[in-house]
Amino acid sequence: MTWEDAWREGRTRWDAGAPAPALEELIASERLPGGLALVTGAGRGYDAFALAKAGWRVTGLDLAPTAADAFAAERAKSGVAADQARIALGDFFTWKPAQPFDVIWDYTFLCALPLGQRHRWGARMNELLAEGGVLATLVFPMVHPEAGYTGPPWPLFPDDVAAVLPGWTRIHEAEPARSHPGRESKERLALWQR
Ligand SMILES: C[S@@+](CC[C@H](N)C(=O)[O-])C[C@H]1O[C@@H](n2cnc3c(N)ncnc32)[C@H](O)[C@@H]1O
Repeated sequence: MTWEDAWREGRTRWDAGAPAPALEELIASERLPGGLALVTGAGRGYDAFALAKAGWRVTGLDLAPTAADAFAAERAKSGVAADQARIALGDFFTWKPAQPFDVIWDYTFLCALPLGQRHRWGARMNELLAEGGVLATLVFPMVHPEAGYTGPPWPLFPDDVAAVLPGWTRIHEAEPARSHPGRESKERLALWQR
């Protein structure tokens, strides 16, 4: 089953239908630098549009063509202009953006990757984040599943992220005040800088 298959067959259980409450909180906190933002594994784009409405120039990245179509359709509904939130169709591991990003938002992306790709995710963040930029991760799902469980999503904790970002500094970590229904106390916001 590929991601494109999942999108085409409507198997998108991860889709919460709204921006992450923790992202809205983070935007309001003014902890993030302005400028260019990247949303990894952007899906239908709710988080990308929340950032765009707050002033970032956003690129949503996804490798599934059907996700890219869904992003464009959702953008039209959101009222966000196409040049304020564009969708890039590509593989996170090989995609070449024109320039690095001031902010990278990662939610439900790292946890969706096979465990063996986590180190490559960290290495890639080194290339994609601009000098002085902030990598914002909403770490999820912080759970201990029963034996035999197979993801995605794969359980993820802040120290798992730290382990694949050697030499980075965790500049902030907090439990969000609000989460999507059913995800309460399974999420933690963590901000990182090189
Ligand atoms: C679990 S979904 C999350 C989507 C969105 N963030 C949300 O919460 O609604 C993961 C997304 O990452 C995309 N994806 C998976 N592997 C990718 C890769 N290597 N490069 C870019 N996108 C990828 C999938 O197509 C999918 O849309």
